[in-house]
Amino acid sequence: MIAHLFNAPVGDDETAIGVGTVGSSEAIMLAGLAFKRKWQAKRKALGKPFDNPNIVTGANVQVCWEKFARYFEVELKEVKLREGYYVMDPAKAVEMVDENTICVAAILGSTLTGEFEDVKLLNELLTEKNKETGWDIPIHVDAASGGFIAPFIYPDLEWDFRLPLVKSINVSGHKYGLVYAGVGWVVWRSKEDLPEELIFHINYLGSDQPTFTLNFSKGSSQIIAQYYQFIRLGFEGYKDIMQNCMENTRLLKEGIIKTGRFEILSKDIGVPLVAFSLKNGSSYTVFQIAESLRRFGWIVPAYTMPPDAEHISLMRVVIREDFSHSLAERLISDIEKVIKELDELPPRASVKSARVDDVDGGGSHHTEKEIGSYWRRISDKKTSSVC
Ligand SMILES: Cc1ncc(COP(=O)(O)O)c(C=O)c1O
Repeated sequence: MIAHLFNAPVGDDETAIGVGTVGSSEAIMLAGLAFKRKWQAKRKALGKPFDNPNIVTGANVQVCWEKFARYFEVELKEVKLREGYYVMDPAKAVEMVDENTICVAAILGSTLTGEFEDVKLLNELLTEKNKETGWDIPIHVDAASGGFIAPFIYPDLEWDFRLPLVKSINVSGHKYGLVYAGVGWVVWRSKEDLPEELIFHINYLGSDQPTFTLNFSKGSSQIIAQYYQFIRLGFEGYKDIMQNCMENTRLLKEGIIKTGRFEILSKDIGVPLVAFSLKNGSSYTVFQIAESLRRFGWIVPAYTMPPDAEHISLMRVVIREDFSHSLAERLISDIEKVIKELDELPPRASVKSARVDDVDGGGSHHTEKEIGSYWRRISDKKTSSVC
């Protein structure tokens, strides 16, 4: 069902193969390992060195890609971000590949901003590069979130097995697959893309059982839950839920824009989430907003972008099926309250120029976060004595 959703070849060419995993992380380990083994086999056959594999990704990849690279000894070559551009640039990624590249990994729904990377353009540029060089570098799509969004909301967007170089795709069942935590999926375009040597066969459970996961035993409840959701909701049911998520995302985004304080970093086409940063010249930080929102029961993460956009700090609200219209309105209203409170506090410049060590007990170098927490403490005490 998932292979079909991702437009795997059908008919006589239908040989897609896949496996259920604990989440996208395990799925990515397996997909990465398959690419590494395929590349090694090819290099061995050519009598060329096979001890220095690398993988090309954007610097915005989720930590599981760094884990894969470190655990399975593959060099991670990251395309750096830049201010205003927070996903992997396909042209730069293709410039970085070489004969040791096992694959280029694109993300359908960047963890940080929800933005879809341009897999179609990557496929075109990499096809040209492969033609020029005689290499055969494939693409993996990390569709952890987007894999259950794009097929329903953007069916014409080509990011999946419709693109010839896309050999494997992962998706998290516990994100927009609508299942509770502990399920992910990886699908390979064809049997040839998953080296046979990675599949183990055991028979001590009474029949031949092929296994190609990192863990052996796991609960079947998530698999059943995923199956149940597919059957119960069907394509139309998923589509309705995802459309509703997009609608609530739009509502929240408009409310955030209306405050006049934020710049929206997420895109209209992407995962239903709103990522936003403070406009220049703000006297407080997103870390302070996140901290204050906790008082209203909201946990809205504030974080910084990866290299080379580390100076950008932002917040992110992921809209899932249970985030309703009225919750969106409540969050907007709480953000407005927090802004009002922060506006009434003394500007940070005067806190910076005040002797911070009067309260903290020494140390002249304070991070923004430390100043923020100091600032909070003085505001909690309702004192303006240092300003
Ligand atoms: C793009 C992306 N890839 C991979 C992962 C890891 O997924 P999981 O938590 O299912 O292992 C995430 C999780 O947030 C993600 O956003």
